[in-house]
Amino acid sequence: MAAAAGARINCFLNPINSLNSKATTRLTTHLTFRLSRRRPPMFCTCASTSAAADDPFVLTTPLYYVNAPPHLGSAYTTIAADAIARFQRLLGKKVIFITGTDEHGEKIATAAAASNSSPAQHCDLISQSYISLWKHLDIAYDKFIRTTDPKHEAIVKEFYSRVLANGDIYRADYEGLYCINCEEYKDEKELLDNNCCPTHLKPCVARKEDNFFFALSKYQKPLEETLAKNPNFVQPSYRLNEVQSWIKSGLRDFSISRALVDWGIPVPNDSKQTIYVWFDALLGYISALSEDTEQPNLERAVSSGWPASLHLIGKDILRFHAVYWPAMLMSAGLGLPNMVFGHGFLTKDGMKMGKSLGNTVEPNELVHRFGSDAVRYFFLREVEFGSDGDYSEDRFINIVNAHLANSIGNLLNRTLGLLKKNCQSTLVIDSSIAAEGTTFKDTVEKLVEKARVDYESLSLSSACEAVLEISNAGNSYMDGRAPWSLFKQGGAASEAAAKDLVIILEAMRIIAIALSPVAPRLSWRIYGQLGYSRDQFDAATWTDTTWGGLKSGQVMAQPKPIFARIESQTEEENGVEAPKKVKKNKLPQPQQVVEA
Ligand code: MSP
Repeated sequence: MAAAAGARINCFLNPINSLNSKATTRLTTHLTFRLSRRRPPMFCTCASTSAAADDPFVLTTPLYYVNAPPHLGSAYTTIAADAIARFQRLLGKKVIFITGTDEHGEKIATAAAASNSSPAQHCDLISQSYISLWKHLDIAYDKFIRTTDPKHEAIVKEFYSRVLANGDIYRADYEGLYCINCEEYKDEKELLDNNCCPTHLKPCVARKEDNFFFALSKYQKPLEETLAKNPNFVQPSYRLNEVQSWIKSGLRDFSISRALVDWGIPVPNDSKQTIYVWFDALLGYISALSEDTEQPNLERAVSSGWPASLHLIGKDILRFHAVYWPAMLMSAGLGLPNMVFGHGFLTKDGMKMGKSLGNTVEPNELVHRFGSDAVRYFFLREVEFGSDGDYSEDRFINIVNAHLANSIGNLLNRTLGLLKKNCQSTLVIDSSIAAEGTTFKDTVEKLVEKARVDYESLSLSSACEAVLEISNAGNSYMDGRAPWSLFKQGGAASEAAAKDLVIILEAMRIIAIALSPVAPRLSWRIYGQLGYSRDQFDAATWTDTTWGGLKSGQVMAQPKPIFARIESQTEEENGVEAPKKVKKNKLPQPQQVVEA
């Protein structure tokens, strides 16, 4: 998209390639004001540092291209976003979780033609396949925006007109190499042999057009200053250097209209052209905020929650979000998002999984075979958020069996089994009293606090690890105390054993809340077995992870496995959502199940 080296731009109207220093100072002052309007200049997802506690936590996934149905790579961002949204809700924040589909442009029009559909029919169909996958994955989004929605079109036009009125749009000729899959003009020096795009491994095509340009170069200094003042704007921190060096190498104006693409929003000042798909799609983050019941209007949409707290994206679209988007917002006089987090890629045999390369794993099939909790847990636990991670089915089965079935599931099941046998499934003492004088409670408190800090800093894998460590500590406590033999001794030993069970079950209660952002169904099954209702589970907050929730007299439900091991189907009879049987020759050695 940035004008390629060797490409020619001939300005027809109002060329703006630099600002005088007085104008830059005015712009910078204006931006500083906009940035600090709602939140402090320190960027952090932590609710504690937020200026106004009642500001909503607005987070977004990218709006996915509808050239093909979703794959595991697209599901990954959305799973992570959902876990973060659920965690913020547990903290008591009002959350607006935005996702949606990016439906305009050449790539979509070509995909529609290839399937003998009109672009509109094609978009309806594929957009629906995203909605359906999100349902299967238990994604609890608040807004789903489609860029073909008329309210979006109205807001894009209004935004475009503002930028035009600010003198940041001009007309010019453009010639360069275009990657249709990236929907981006490429710099020749970033291409492989035969002008192939390094991401899609397909040749770029030569294009020459008369386009409208956005004066990105005018925002070079303001962007540099913004990043210098707010280094947390780009996360993880190692991606900031990359962004800073793009900016330092010089920002070129980019083309924001297409003369040869019909499938798009018409340019307000020239209906023969359509708005470039990226300029259009980024605005979905704002148009999503517009209520369906009201006349779409930029200011109203902005007042419903802009600026966003967090844009979650893959690292391949960082330049659009950390350079072009802030500059566009500055031009329109709108506040910047608090943070852009660029995660890594899910890879298969080292190559980015993608629709264009055709090396994807079908997410619906994974959910169908293993259940949504397993899929969510595996990717959040196994891939360090920010880094790349390779998918392997053996690893998947090993991890979910060891963590969810054995460490967590088996601990609950054997504890409830002992309680049923020896205490009529009823707690004999308050958990706060039961834990007096034990160090186990301190361990749980430290781990749950660690999980909270990890969730807040988006270290999702570490958060999962901290929760798992609670169950590992519970298993060690159980094995060390051996309550099954204490019960056999009777008297005081038996009383001590009954206390031990309360202690373990209290830890399970805390696990259920702390794991609920990642594995919501599994967490509910744990909570339900502890004798709570669905309403009580839905009303739980992070404060409820404080030790002492379980009280004497609480009656537990019948023990049932909460997570069936992947090679077993026996639990299906017990009403547990059991994964489909996996062929024996694909299975790793079964994990040892600890005896109660
Ligand atoms: N439509 C644009 C985004 C516009 S946002 C205003 C787009 N769409 S996409 O469908 O191609 O990609 C959406 C997201 O999926 C990107 O963040 C991309 O990084 C992510 N992923 C696509 N393949 C992926 C993997 N293999 N692994 C992890 N994420 C990947 O870009």
